[in-house]
Amino acid sequence: MDRISIVGGSRLEGTLAISGAKNATLPLMIASLLTSERLTLKNVPNLADVITLGRILRNHGVDLAVDGKRADPSPYQGETFHLTAREIVDTTAPYEMVNRMRASFWVLGPLLARCGEARVSMPGGCAIGTRPVDLHLMGLKTLGAEIDIDGGYVVARARKGLHGARVIFPKVSVGATHAVLMTAALIKGETVIENAAREPEIGDVAECLVKMGARIEGIGTSTLRIQGTDRLEGAVHTVLPDRIETGTYAFAVAAAGGDVELRGARKGLLETALTTLERIGVAIAETPAGVRVTRNGGALEPITIETQPFPGFPTDLQAQLMALMTKANGTSVIRETIFENRFMHVQELVRLGADIQLQGDTAVIKGVKSLRGAQVMATDLRASVSLVIAGLMAEGKTTINRVYHLDRGFERLEQKLSGCGASIERLVSG
Ligand code: EPZ
Repeated sequence: MDRISIVGGSRLEGTLAISGAKNATLPLMIASLLTSERLTLKNVPNLADVITLGRILRNHGVDLAVDGKRADPSPYQGETFHLTAREIVDTTAPYEMVNRMRASFWVLGPLLARCGEARVSMPGGCAIGTRPVDLHLMGLKTLGAEIDIDGGYVVARARKGLHGARVIFPKVSVGATHAVLMTAALIKGETVIENAAREPEIGDVAECLVKMGARIEGIGTSTLRIQGTDRLEGAVHTVLPDRIETGTYAFAVAAAGGDVELRGARKGLLETALTTLERIGVAIAETPAGVRVTRNGGALEPITIETQPFPGFPTDLQAQLMALMTKANGTSVIRETIFENRFMHVQELVRLGADIQLQGDTAVIKGVKSLRGAQVMATDLRASVSLVIAGLMAEGKTTINRVYHLDRGFERLEQKLSGCGASIERLVSG
């Protein structure tokens, strides 16, 4: 297994390109199941999760062609995917595939809408909590699906067809909103989703569905009104920039100190996270090409914050914020409200010398003067990258084991950071 080695203490200077958003790319790829025509996605990031989902979709009969292979990574352009699901050859998504990535469960609704049946293994994914799928199933049942659980699989059927309906979510869920939105696009009639997640990646998928022929009102709000159709068309869509990657590198610059322009980043996609950085003492400026992050040696002010669905502070940046706060000038309090077990990074940060106490869903972080490099273990995607941030701040060498978690969601992480002056390298296992 590969490892990443970091020697802390270097400032970050220069420019760093932001890739297309993983969490938009995955549902957009799944949307290809909704039409027999070609869906072209531009600015697709080269990530392990994207490759895994490509394999799953091929299994259903999707033809996936990739062009736009980059010869010159700077300025960075993502890949272009052409996905064509002319015929669905298999409506089963098997355990061996779905258990590697939770988002692959989201094929359930589109397969059901297109074929009238689907059999999808209950999901796996990052170990950050119990992560049930009850809201997905409730949404699909409301649209007329009959659902059984059989041998670890969700078996969905629509013998009498699906119908538009009012789906009221008792809790905000990104995945369940994607599931109902994509399914409703291929049902004749109107579906209204209330208490929909407002994450920008949902808006990106909705915009793509509009290009494919659905009518959708309320994009970006918590009420989505979808006029579906029984035949969606092909489309060309560019994936929006990754706000979590943007936030992660902004936290990295804050941690290491320096001045970096995050090219292609869109400030409006992560206002809460960037405002949080400003409160901590980091300068943020919008530029014509993206977002500039500057910290020139000033103290990091402690902060009290809780994670919330968009537009609140994202759970996907909680670990990165915590890494930064380990060296703040005082005590910070971070409450995780989305996932009950998303503190796997705490014990690893403590190995580097951080002072963190966990009290239920809340972490209390007392800033220390310095961190010391050590061997640490990547546990889930965002926890892993928080260790990279801590490594940039630590004295001496930090080695991160099990970096395959990082490869799920961060494209060319070592190149992007070393291009800005970080001392970071991948140790490839023989
Ligand atoms: C999406 O996961 C993201 N994944 C996650 O990013 C992200 O952390 C999460 O949204 C929250 O923003 C992708 O977009 C691929 P949820 P998802 O359904 O859809 C509960 C990353 O690091 N819930 O919004 O699985 C659930 O347990 C990943 O890139 C139910 O109770 O998250 C959680 O407490 C990790 N029943 C809360 O809702 C359900 O049926 C929010 O989960 C579904 C969810």
